[in-house]
Amino acid sequence: MNTPNNSDSEGHFDFVSFSNAVQTQFEASPFPFEDEKVLSDQTWKIIPPNWFNAIGRPGKPFYDRGKFLVAGCGTGNEAFNIARAFPNLEVVAFDASKKAIEIAHKWQKASGINNIHFLQEDLLNPNLSQSVGYNFDWISCHEVLAYVYDPQAAIINLANCLSPEGCLYIGVKGTFHPTVRLTPAISLFSLKMDSPEQVKRTREVLCVCDNLMGIPIDKGIGAQPESYLKTHVFGVHHDSFPLHTWIEIIHNAGLQYINSLYTSMSFLQLQDNRFFDILTELDLPTLHSLIDHCNPSFFHMIIAAKPRVIPPFAPADKNELLRWRPLVDLWDRSKVPAVQPPYTQVLDVTFDIPGLYRQLPLKLSSYLIEFLRRSDGSRSVAQLVAEMGIEIKPEELFSALARFYFTSLLNFLPPL
Ligand SMILES: C[S@@+](CC[C@H](N)C(=O)[O-])C[C@H]1O[C@@H](n2cnc3c(N)ncnc32)[C@H](O)[C@@H]1O
Repeated sequence: MNTPNNSDSEGHFDFVSFSNAVQTQFEASPFPFEDEKVLSDQTWKIIPPNWFNAIGRPGKPFYDRGKFLVAGCGTGNEAFNIARAFPNLEVVAFDASKKAIEIAHKWQKASGINNIHFLQEDLLNPNLSQSVGYNFDWISCHEVLAYVYDPQAAIINLANCLSPEGCLYIGVKGTFHPTVRLTPAISLFSLKMDSPEQVKRTREVLCVCDNLMGIPIDKGIGAQPESYLKTHVFGVHHDSFPLHTWIEIIHNAGLQYINSLYTSMSFLQLQDNRFFDILTELDLPTLHSLIDHCNPSFFHMIIAAKPRVIPPFAPADKNELLRWRPLVDLWDRSKVPAVQPPYTQVLDVTFDIPGLYRQLPLKLSSYLIEFLRRSDGSRSVAQLVAEMGIEIKPEELFSALARFYFTSLLNFLPPL
């Protein structure tokens, strides 16, 4: 725990003083902005509901309506961006900081955006759903849980607000995040943030650390706004957890772990098909925990949902797989170039993630690029193979498709 003053004389964690310190921190430094940037800033990219929708409910079209909850909204930047992008959504946004909600109200008046209801509320209120509402189709909780002394209770409360078909997004720092790696490094210096001179010196030290971590200093931690440094670097918060811990928390709340963006991306970029048999001994949450243990993410963008039946990938029955209809709907297929036969080369291809402003560069056999481009859920694996006129060993196709399936790049719909 990054909480020097939150233990009593016998070393027990003191929940009340942790909560009070967090409260004081976000009353003094409302996050992310106090000024007009709350409305205008789009560098913090919103987590669009159509992304939640695709990853949590393959094949379901996204409709620009429904209920969206922003849990721990701060001064409202995410809520404003969501409400503007999807004017038919009903957005509820809450935060424990009174000052943050006052600022959000002020800018809401100035903006004329009226599909958001801001309120002051605590994630740890066991009656949260009575206060903020329930049956939300999407819930976003970005960079909040590190400041909550009991993340398990918080996720249980959010699960109670979710509709049976709904999806919960959790954004939390991973153990490879620069601020997490910095913590022991900056303790070697005596750094303060109380005067402009101290802030200047602190930034210099942070820039040195950014440089040692290989991060360009104009984009590094040393270049972040003062509110970020006061809360994310020097503020009161928990240490970050590995993905494995979040998966346990999600399961304990009665939810199902669906995916985590950066874990999937690193798996797709690193995994060698030769090891596939060993990897598929594991179920998806365990496989993702393994990936994060070996190759820790700097950030987790996790999707969880109420338990649901997800079309299975049936490693034991390769014939069955041939009948399922592959579907790529999380990534933008339309931007993938068409590849002509013979499909003999290995090519570079970049998938766009719609709305998330992220890209996934991959090196793939050209037949796979074309296969993914055509995977729109309308035809079976066998039909696509026949249509493309490819001769491919089933084991090779099987392991390539499984690799995409386990990262949500490719989903399967049952046979027609
Ligand atoms: C780092 S800010 C993130 C704000 C916003 N989600 C964003 O990404 O811009 C963390 C926010 O969590 C809020 N918070 C911390 N503990 C909370 C709790 N128990 N209930 C509700 N909000 C809480 C803080 O007041 C603060 O506004």
